[in-house]
This record gives sequence, C-alpha cells and structure tokens, in this order.
Amino acid sequence: MHGTRESHGEAADWSERQIAYYRARATEYDTTYADRMHMPLLTKILDELPISGDVLELACGTGQWTQLLSNRASTLTALDAAPEMLDVARGRMRGTATRFIESDIFSWEPDRQYDTVFFAFWLSHVPPAELAAFWDLLRRALAPGGCAVFLDDSHAKAEIEELVVQAQVPTVRRRLSDGSQHLAVKVLHDAAGLTRRLYDLGWESHIEQVDPYHFGGIARPRERA
Ligand SMILES: C[S@@+](CC[C@H](N)C(=O)[O-])C[C@H]1O[C@@H](n2cnc3c(N)ncnc32)[C@H](O)[C@@H]1O
Repeated sequence: MHGTRESHGEAADWSERQIAYYRARATEYDTTYADRMHMPLLTKILDELPISGDVLELACGTGQWTQLLSNRASTLTALDAAPEMLDVARGRMRGTATRFIESDIFSWEPDRQYDTVFFAFWLSHVPPAELAAFWDLLRRALAPGGCAVFLDDSHAKAEIEELVVQAQVPTVRRRLSDGSQHLAVKVLHDAAGLTRRLYDLGWESHIEQVDPYHFGGIARPRERA
C-alpha cells in the first residue's frame, strides 16, 4: 500500500518526472560511468557482496551492473521503468538469458521469489514516505534465506547536486547535454542512519561506507536473519 501516493494506483508526479528524466538520459547515461564512477573500486565491492542463485536487479538502467551480476547468477531478471534504458541494457546483455521487465517499481508485484535482489543507485531515488512500502516489496520478492544487496550515493554526493526541494520529496535538478532540465528524487543516506532505519522496518543489515561518496550493504528480513 503506497499510502502517500497522490492517488492510489496512479503514478505520483515526482515518479513520472523521474522516469521521464531517465528516459531522456538513457542515450547519454553511460558517460557518467566513463567520467565519474570509480568502477574498479565499486566492482571490487560487488565481488565481496553475496550475490547468488536467482537474482533480481531493480532499476537496472543501461545494464552496467547487470553484466557483472550475470557472472554470478543462476538466473537473472532485470527491471526498469524506462524503455530507453532497457533498450541499452538489452543490447549490452545480448546473447545471455537475462529476462527484462519494463515496470514502475512502485506499482510492480513480483511473480516469483529471488535469492538476491540487487539495486545500485536506486535507493536514493525512493522518497522517505515510500521507503517502508519499498522494503515491504523486497520482503515479498525474496525467497526464504535470500537477501537484498545494494550500492548507493552517500551524503558527500550532496556537493554535486542542485537541491530544489527539501520537503517530503527531496528533489534535485539535473541537466542533460541538450540543455534540458529535469527533476529527480534524491535522498542521501549514510550507513549508520540507514542501518537504524532498516532495523525499524524489520531488517537486519550490514552497510559500509566504501569511499567518501558511496556505501554498499546487504539486508535480510529480521525474522529470517
Ligand atoms: C540512477 S539510475 C541507476 C541505473 C543502474 N542501476 C545503475 O546503477 O547504473 C536509476 C534508474 O531507475 C530507473 N527508474 C526510475 N524510476 C523508476 C521506477 N519508478 N520504477 C523502475 N525504475 C525506475 C531509471 O529509469 C534509471 O534506469
């Protein structure tokens, strides 16, 4: 139940804007990886995280992580709301058995359970009021004994963001190379604060700062931990 959605069952404005932004950004998204991401470090972190069995990747984007997950998954399912992002990801994963799903996470229901649910740079796009519903979704998506594995931006990333709203739905302005301006949700967590929040939501987690800008973590439902 997404209690704070503007109307039940319909996408909220912030979500529609965010998806529109990523649809527009899809063709230039990978330049971020070339220019800004320290992939050797992040890949090493991923290597140390428990990823196995049937794996679901949420908000897969252009498939930067999908390709790394595929080496470790028995089966791999990757979901994103932006068809343009999925087109790039499908190209990247051509020749593999990856199953792609085009859907809005906030209205999606899993049709099966997974051993690992992975999401990179997604949690920071979930507004605070949607966090509990998102982690409830993860609980439904995980098989017994399974875990959520995630990487994201931490507080230090605020220095490169242009914050436009800091109320219920923290929002930043982003610009694309064609000069167009877009709005995206951005909630910067830190390891300690997120660990406490997840505990309150019924999760046991281990979250570590991996460099000044990023954290990585795993979480399991507490009653299954
Ligand atoms: C910051 S990108 C992360 C992509 C990829 N995980 C990565 O790390 O490169 C955020 C992704 O979330 C997707 N997205 C945004 N809102 C979504 C929603 N409501 N449901 C599913 N995907 C969504 C965007 O299309 C985009 O691919």
